[in-house]
Amino acid sequence: MSATIRDVAKLAGVSVASVSRVLNSKGYISTETKDKVEEAIKLLKYEPNQVARSLTVKKTKTIALFVPDITNPFFSTLAKGVEEQANSKGFTLILCNYDESGGEKNSHIDLIKQKYVDGIIFAAGKLNPRDAVKIKHSKIPLVALDRIPDMETECVIFVDNYKGAKMAVEHLLDMGCKKIGHIYGPQEISTARDRLLAYEDVMRDSPLYSPSLMTSGDFTIESGIEATKTLLERHPDLDGIFAGNDMMAIGALKALHRRGIKVPEQIAVCGFDGISLTEVTNPELTTVAQPTYEIGKLAAESLIKFISDLYFNEKIIKLDASLVIRESTKKIGVKL
Ligand code: RIB
Repeated sequence: MSATIRDVAKLAGVSVASVSRVLNSKGYISTETKDKVEEAIKLLKYEPNQVARSLTVKKTKTIALFVPDITNPFFSTLAKGVEEQANSKGFTLILCNYDESGGEKNSHIDLIKQKYVDGIIFAAGKLNPRDAVKIKHSKIPLVALDRIPDMETECVIFVDNYKGAKMAVEHLLDMGCKKIGHIYGPQEISTARDRLLAYEDVMRDSPLYSPSLMTSGDFTIESGIEATKTLLERHPDLDGIFAGNDMMAIGALKALHRRGIKVPEQIAVCGFDGISLTEVTNPELTTVAQPTYEIGKLAAESLIKFISDLYFNEKIIKLDASLVIRESTKKIGVKL
């Protein structure tokens, strides 16, 4: 049986009202009382009842955003869209970098519950089972973004990754590429799976198709460098690379430059995401641009509407990405 606020008051030797003031950081609380209450909360592992709390006290007007890698500009643009929309509605954003294999390190979930956030936007794809149970029991509404999570959510917003990747590969073929390699992201992530599937569906009928034209990365620049080295060792006559995200495509540009291989003349390169870095690489990178800022804005809009009206207009929102053609695929002599 979990501890109640009365158990905390009894153990701390104070009134329930004092415990409530400590929990809500409201009204005058002596340091001695605050310390005794916090000690009792820790000893009893007391967790305020979310449902009761959200019914009895004013909303905190706070939203938590979970992302898997804040160092990737895709997620910082996503966060910008969420934050600007949340702020425009008077909400504060708590940003959490979440690694689902993070185990105890991930105290975010407990922090989120203790902070009584009104809603969660989850862009990290996978919640470890322990955290998934905590979120479910907390009754905090959750909107999933970008990566389809393996848990029940009230609303999910993402792009058509299959359609976007198909556009990328067909564009490379239109540019005259024959032997196109693919650097795919981690296959436990839905976005990476859909992009790999599209690549295989487009290339399968090509006479040059081979499983050795596909190699894995982890959505980082370094993995793009390593994957490109692997593809070149397997296929020195490669003439195109589709990378499952822009960071790996930037790694590919780096690896090709180190070998004196000309892009796009010898090998054309296309990425996926549309992060702003693609405008400053040399050559500038062709990519499949996601409406990333808009996805973040839409997620915040949907969640805040749910917090006030308790329903979502749409439970599944699938958006289109768009091909942005730049120097890295403009094969000389091929009309665009
Ligand atoms: O660059 C990070 C990748 O992970 C993006 O393609 C995004 O779709 C996410 O799934």
